[in-house]
Amino acid sequence: MRSYCLIAPAKINLYLQILGNRPDGFHELVMVLQSIDLADVVTLRSRSTDDIRVACDDPNVPADPTNLAYRAADLMVRQFPDYHARFGGIDIDLQKRIPVGAGLAGGSTDAAAVLVGINLMWHLGLTQGELQDFAAMLGSDIPFCISGGTALATCRGEKLDPLPDLTDLHVVLAKYRDLPISTPWAYKTYRQNFGDTYPTTPAAWDACKQKAGGMLSAIAHHDTQQIVSHLHNDLERVVLPEYPKVQQLRDEFQTLEILGTMMSGSGSTVFALVESLAQAEQVKAQMRRALPDPDLDFWVTKFCQSGVRLASR
Ligand code: C5P
Repeated sequence: MRSYCLIAPAKINLYLQILGNRPDGFHELVMVLQSIDLADVVTLRSRSTDDIRVACDDPNVPADPTNLAYRAADLMVRQFPDYHARFGGIDIDLQKRIPVGAGLAGGSTDAAAVLVGINLMWHLGLTQGELQDFAAMLGSDIPFCISGGTALATCRGEKLDPLPDLTDLHVVLAKYRDLPISTPWAYKTYRQNFGDTYPTTPAAWDACKQKAGGMLSAIAHHDTQQIVSHLHNDLERVVLPEYPKVQQLRDEFQTLEILGTMMSGSGSTVFALVESLAQAEQVKAQMRRALPDPDLDFWVTKFCQSGVRLASR
């Protein structure tokens, strides 16, 4: 039986601004999301029985119905019962390369790969937009993981506008192994601490728009210096004081010759942007020397211009 092997890239947030509370309990966001080459590998096969089975090479990832990849398959089974009856159940094999609880959309991109893979395996013929509508039912970052590249994400994060591809910047990621950060905790704490600073007047809205506009204009002009000077993440305001180790990564990167550094999403990954692979390797070596902790992991990767895609055979 044919298997479908998909590459599922991670993302970093170049920009994350929280504009307010939404009636659905989520937050109104303006984000600039960027795919990176660090990717999980997701393999799908039909099963002779009608159930969904998830296997994962990382014992810390729950291979059960709470896994977003499982939930993505379950959504497709419920949406397309005739195809499920015809093709049978689904085997999902996750090879994790993206760290968990890292602010890199690791779980979201696996779910995106499952949606894209089932569309192919069952010959559903759904468009990217239709797949993204299903993706939005599962999580705010999943629609972006399907299309990838560089995008402006608004509303909950699910409304996407593609942005011009950025030049090939290289990225060093740093993350403490046993330091996952809960995304709901980060947003809830932000709301509690800074909810009263949400823009409510036209002038405040204009100021917010201007701030995000600076990043968008920098990207439109491929102006690397301006892009790095507009790196922004509101969630740093709650995560950095609570997690000194994340602050330490941020501070240490700042001492090196890099273009810029920022926490990704709700953390705990901190990234540094540099111009070349050689610089990235040098920054990684300098960080290792400065922080010789065996629980600190590094990845050298670069911007990539695609979301989930079939692995070349
Ligand atoms: O959408 P997703 O399940 O990835 O979001 C994870 C959590 O992050 C949500 O349960 C919510 O607590 C928070 N979140 C939010 N506002 C958003 C996106 C996420 O409050 N726009």
